[in-house]
Amino acid sequence: MKAIVYKGPRDVVVKKVPDAKIKKATDVLVKITTTNICGSDLHMYEGRTNMEPGRIFGHENLGTVIEIGSAVDRVKRGDRVCMPFNISCGFCENCERGLTGFCLTTNPGNAGAAYGFAGMGPYSGGQAELLRVPYADFNCLVLPPDADEKENDYVMLSDIFPTGYHATELAGVQAGDSVVIYGAGPVGLMAAYSSIIKGASKVMVVDMHKDRLALAEKIGAIAVNDSDGSGVEQVMALTAGIGADRGCECVGYQCCDHKGHEVPNLTMNNLVKTVRPTGGIGVVGVFIPEDPHAKDKLARQGQIAFDFGQFWIKGQHIGTGQANVKAYNRKLCRLIAEGKAKPSFIISHELPLDRAVEAYENFDARKDGWTKVVLKPGH
Ligand SMILES: NC(=O)c1ccc[n+]([C@@H]2O[C@H](COP(=O)([O-])OP(=O)(O)OC[C@H]3O[C@@H](n4cnc5c(N)ncnc54)[C@H](O)[C@@H]3O)[C@@H](O)[C@H]2O)c1
Ligand SMILES: [Zn+2]
Ligand SMILES: [Zn+2]
Repeated sequence: MKAIVYKGPRDVVVKKVPDAKIKKATDVLVKITTTNICGSDLHMYEGRTNMEPGRIFGHENLGTVIEIGSAVDRVKRGDRVCMPFNISCGFCENCERGLTGFCLTTNPGNAGAAYGFAGMGPYSGGQAELLRVPYADFNCLVLPPDADEKENDYVMLSDIFPTGYHATELAGVQAGDSVVIYGAGPVGLMAAYSSIIKGASKVMVVDMHKDRLALAEKIGAIAVNDSDGSGVEQVMALTAGIGADRGCECVGYQCCDHKGHEVPNLTMNNLVKTVRPTGGIGVVGVFIPEDPHAKDKLARQGQIAFDFGQFWIKGQHIGTGQANVKAYNRKLCRLIAEGKAKPSFIISHELPLDRAVEAYENFDARKDGWTKVVLKPGH
């Protein structure tokens, strides 16, 4: 099969590799029809994780089941399915509580597994023609009959729509709240979209990229352009000097100041500044335990200088971590099926797998107009 293979920093290649196949009776094999490039892939692509060369990327996957293991009950050959990026067992202590991002079975010694992901188990990704799906009865979301027509919407259930929603849950967004979101990438835009779906009264999205901010405006959020470094002041002005009720971090450890220099603690401390006393903060942007290639000394050890005094005195609370996609994907799927949500609005490029190299280059450069790339292995 053809797949996107990581060779080293900023070096991926599309090449023939051995076909993915069923290894356990609980697996299914999926022929991938849509697979996305994610901001999480970029941390690995840039060589800023311990991703091993030779591995296949891709954790946002949708396709058709073509083979089922002998112990698979529910999922049938021919089903159109979308897989959460998390690979989870369904029966461990964390999965039982809905915390499938922290499964204790699928990545022994750690909590949480994913396809094609640094530090999250040995699983190959789906930026390929075929994908092996473990514990398939639990992990496959079988899609409604309009799966083909709305494929570009449903594929967002694999990660960024539930992840954006998770950010709002961690922050505690409720109807009537004001929300500030750092990052207008796909995840930040989905956090804004989720806040709007939940009935937030005012949603402010901070970024430096005009094309991404324009999408935030299109869904009814307020664009806060931080390209002159005034983002915090603008948010305070928009919230009568008090700060937003809730805040979401949708950037992660590679966040930058307005001049483009990495400042790993910037968004976290900006959240402390711009969320009101007793407000909630949800952090889905990725922070990692070690970042050996960081310029910042603390960041190399996965640490940041966090304004804990301000955070404490303001009585804020914070929630973090990988999204438990399964906790939300079924309900968000219904919103799409009923025409109440259309997360495909963020897609800028739909390309065949063969054009993945240029897709990675452009998306990594956050080049104007490259907000979200979906790849179509069958084309
Ligand atoms: N927790 C999870 O389950 C989960 C799932 C998916 C993605 N993620 C993470 O979410 C983050 C965002 O993903 P994405 O796909 O949207 O990535 P992305 O890189 O496309 O978007 C990040 C955006 O943040 C902006 N940004 C950088 N510094 C900023 C700052 N100081 N203030 C405001 N905006 C700033 C960038 O301009 C960019 O538009 C990544 O860290 C990704 O790994 C987490
Ligand atoms: Zn992703
Ligand atoms: Zn589990």
